[in-house]
Amino acid sequence: MARTEGSSAFLPPVTVALTGASGAQYGLRLIEALVGAGHEVWVMISKAAHLVIATETDDELPARPARLVEALSQRSGAAPGQIRCFAREDWMAPVASGSGAPSSMVICPCSTGTLSAVATGASNNLIERAADVALKERRQLILVPRETPFSAIHLEHMLSLTRMGAVILPAAPGFYHRPESIEDMVDFIVARILNQLGIAHRLVPRWGESAASD
Ligand SMILES: Cc1cc2nc3c(=O)[nH]c(=O)nc-3n(C[C@H](O)[C@H](O)[C@H](O)COP(=O)(O)O)c2cc1C
Repeated sequence: MARTEGSSAFLPPVTVALTGASGAQYGLRLIEALVGAGHEVWVMISKAAHLVIATETDDELPARPARLVEALSQRSGAAPGQIRCFAREDWMAPVASGSGAPSSMVICPCSTGTLSAVATGASNNLIERAADVALKERRQLILVPRETPFSAIHLEHMLSLTRMGAVILPAAPGFYHRPESIEDMVDFIVARILNQLGIAHRLVPRWGESAASD
């Protein structure tokens, strides 16, 4: 993975965008896991995602980037400077340009609205623009949609994004690892995302490994 930032104490940045689909816990846990793995994490949270976070978790995260950095750093145990947050229309943020954006971006969870905007290149906010940059620069883009059932529109957008090189990784946890808690189910998806990013983890045993050997 190429470095896009100068001398940082952390491993290369990964962009994580949370949008307004159900499943805020997946995105929040992903941030924790990336921080734990030593990566710098660049975060964007849509307006609808803030509402979902307040609905689905005990967290109510502030909207202003500086305060959001503090809140996310506290909940994930990040070191100073390890998390950066960008506002909805911060067009000067590094993620808005191919020359500044990290080599990987994950939209987790991904609403069908953002899925549609990314598939059609809308770029109406910084999350959509950052995803557009990832596609045009042929960087790694992972989308974690959550909706059920899917309409033909959703499926067509997922197919076109897959054909453009993005990875569609639906928030559809398996059960063969015998989850005992919601956290286990969340970790199943986060582990799949980390596998895609090539980041080592011990969240869930890999296929063929027994839980006992973990
Ligand atoms: C509590 C809550 C749950 C939602 N769940 C979903 C969902 O699972 N999938 C989805 O695509 N949209 C869901 N929505 C609707 C999106 O938040 C809405 O379409 C929004 O415009 C998406 O904006 P964004 O893509 O900028 O975050 C939900 C909204 C709320 C408030």
